[in-house]
Amino acid sequence: MYLNGKKIIVGVTGSIAAYKSALLVRLLVKAGAEVQVIMTKAATEFITPLTLATLSRRPALSAYVQNDVGEWNNHVALGLWADLMVIAPATANTLAKCANGLCDDLLTAVYLSARCPVYFAPAMDLDMFRHPSTQQNLDRLRAYGNGIIEVGTGELASGLTGVGRLAEPEDIRQVLQNHFARIPVARGKRVLITAGPTQEDLDPVRFLGNRSSGRQGWALARVAAQRGARVTLVAGHTADLGAPAGVDVVAAGTAVAMEAAVRGAAADADAVVMAAAVADFRPVDTAADKIKRGDAEPAPLRLTQNPDILAGLVADPPRPGQVVVGFAAETGDADGDVLPHGRAKLARKGCDLLVVNAVGDGKAFETTDNAGWLLARDGGEDELPFGSKALLASRIWDAVVPRLR
Ligand code: CTP
Repeated sequence: MYLNGKKIIVGVTGSIAAYKSALLVRLLVKAGAEVQVIMTKAATEFITPLTLATLSRRPALSAYVQNDVGEWNNHVALGLWADLMVIAPATANTLAKCANGLCDDLLTAVYLSARCPVYFAPAMDLDMFRHPSTQQNLDRLRAYGNGIIEVGTGELASGLTGVGRLAEPEDIRQVLQNHFARIPVARGKRVLITAGPTQEDLDPVRFLGNRSSGRQGWALARVAAQRGARVTLVAGHTADLGAPAGVDVVAAGTAVAMEAAVRGAAADADAVVMAAAVADFRPVDTAADKIKRGDAEPAPLRLTQNPDILAGLVADPPRPGQVVVGFAAETGDADGDVLPHGRAKLARKGCDLLVVNAVGDGKAFETTDNAGWLLARDGGEDELPFGSKALLASRIWDAVVPRLR
């Protein structure tokens, strides 16, 4: 509903991923948006203007002048017409031009004239994407207030594997929807998100941990920020997975440290989403020096319970009316069904919503995609279909936002 009636310019540049722009245009039109396609000359060699014109129900423009009818495509008027502009795919060349104010074609001239928000969805080969000049151009475009839609990771058209893939059309649509959604719903709300694994030290070099990467929690933080919320991300042991400006990242490597960080920030939060994989136990003793192999049988590991941070929040809410979301990573029952465990955990934890994921066999942990169920205390059960973690994050916020006071 957020995209209905919105005027969107879809810029398409010369990348093999240009075929995906047809799907993006279709999704936007289906959502009720008015779409104007503007292509670079190179883009027309990858996908025909006829395809994009048919899907968008408007001529796909690529030149300043339509020579056959002598019609002038006014870049200033196009820039003023749009509520939003997205360039997908955006090649390294177009990013470089836009970052430096060059405008030798209609698309880059419209970009320079546009008064609306602009998003870039880059697509290129791994090494081009990683090149310091491309990264600097992306930083510059961000600094100018543009949105950069995360690239995907995987097999690239070159045959290499890595970062640089155009985000999936459904993900791009979701980012644009989030853009419009934030105005009525999440602006100014404060949210607290936990992400990633804790590590419970055995000695200075060893720990008890788990396979969580933190990607789902970081995606929740990014989407919340896109929607205009003020975000605190309490991160366990994760890499820096890219928080947008304004996300306050607090490192908390152990369950005890995470409990303190959550307690510190939760009093101000309208919603708390506990995506972290917190260790349930920690060693009773942490050796000051590295434990040596020795000749004797190893001593049994003595463990003690960690605080249950989520249960603590529910039992003693730091802020009335706060929405609390838990996660449950489950291997399922004998049939692999995770729902019975999820329902039991929701009842036990008493939170408002619980996201249930299947784990094991390469699912959920250490991957970029996810799927699961969203269970509500009031009995609702919605499937979260397989998709990127950003997409799942959007669906989770779609459920949380209407519950915010
Ligand atoms: N959690 C928490 N503190 C802990 C353990 C878990 O806050 N010490 C939170 C997690 O962040 C998650 C939810 O509780 O949101 C469920 O975590 P999970 O490990 O699945 O739950 P457990 O209570 O540990 O249940 P299980 O017996 O399945 O391990």
